[in-house]
Amino acid sequence: MLSGTSGSVRIGARRVARCLTPRAASIAIASIPRASLSRNTSIAQARSLSSTGHLSYAINTNPNPPLGKKNASNDMPSRIGLIGARGYTGQALIDLINEHPNMDLRHVSSRELEGQELKGYTKRKIIYESLSPEEVAQLDKDGKVDCWVMALPNAVCQPFVEALGQSKSLIVDLSADYRFDSTWAYGLPELIQRSKIAQSTRISNPGCYSTGSQLALAPILEHVGAMPTVFGVSGYSGAGTKPSPKNDIKLLHDNLMPSRDIRQIYQNRYAGEKLVKVVGEAPLVKSIQNKHGVEIGGFAVDSTGKRVVVCATIDNLLKGAATQCLQNMNLALGYGEYQGIPLE
Ligand SMILES: NC(=O)c1ccc[n+]([C@@H]2O[C@H](COP(=O)([O-])OP(=O)(O)OC[C@H]3O[C@@H](n4cnc5c(N)ncnc54)[C@H](OP(=O)(O)O)[C@@H]3O)[C@@H](O)[C@H]2O)c1
Repeated sequence: MLSGTSGSVRIGARRVARCLTPRAASIAIASIPRASLSRNTSIAQARSLSSTGHLSYAINTNPNPPLGKKNASNDMPSRIGLIGARGYTGQALIDLINEHPNMDLRHVSSRELEGQELKGYTKRKIIYESLSPEEVAQLDKDGKVDCWVMALPNAVCQPFVEALGQSKSLIVDLSADYRFDSTWAYGLPELIQRSKIAQSTRISNPGCYSTGSQLALAPILEHVGAMPTVFGVSGYSGAGTKPSPKNDIKLLHDNLMPSRDIRQIYQNRYAGEKLVKVVGEAPLVKSIQNKHGVEIGGFAVDSTGKRVVVCATIDNLLKGAATQCLQNMNLALGYGEYQGIPLE
């Protein structure tokens, strides 16, 4: 449903956001009456949000607050093996591990870069290897690695996971392969019980679209009468970012109706979250690049009170991949939840 191309997000008749830069995704959700169905939308009816009353007061409704430093029980370094280290997400994770006080990268695997030195990693000299599943299993049996990260394309990591078998080492998979496997923890700490992730040795890391859209939907799900629609847009390197009315923040502003009640629900739900920022205006894709959290905003309700629009932006390689991976690794390896993650 979601493509990797840049484009505009259109909800009902309103143009809400346009992808401006590479490496980021903008996600909008909407729920509108069936009568308003258009060729491109399959949006269902929502209950009137105004019936929730005026929520202008701040309360903490976060049922799953961050574990933060409370999770820090391990002061030993963890040895990390990264399979798929040449790729975009692998490289983003290497940068984060390089700055992490307790994580120690030991093996990086790439068929293409085998024999070359890993650049940009300053803690130790590492040479790329081309590790087979059997070699990964052997290293694991020899006790050389505490955590394996699979940064491989979809449908590639199964032989590696199977070779590791019942190993007690942590495995975090960035692909979609295990996201629907109930024996794996779904690594979205803001929505999934953090203690469950912390106790898991198999974590499936949701990607950028799933993270952005689920965070954007969760706080108002109970108010939505039927299936919401998620539109996702993502830019990729080299995509044009020529300014136009479609990405003019002033125009965007004028087209959105303030809706403080909705915003309040989000602020209450994400109280204390360091990687979810609730903002009033529609978050701009260009502003989220290189940031480690998700921004949710641009809340709008139409005059009938039956349609709501919410926009979320996420850097696909950070909270959409490497940062979330590190957050999950911190939880499961016993470090502070945000250890090594640059926070604003
Ligand atoms: N890019 C994103 O924005 C993003 C966001 C969230 C999640 N994800 C998910 O994260 C995973 C990695 O994405 P990516 O963008 O980093 O991919 P990528 O840039 O294409 O990198 C893939 C990596 O896997 C290795 N690889 C490819 N085929 C392989 C095979 N058959 N056996 C062993 N190694 C193989 C490649 O290295 P060699 O070819 O040198 O071996 C490379 O290191 C994907 O599952 C993707 O869906 C991506």
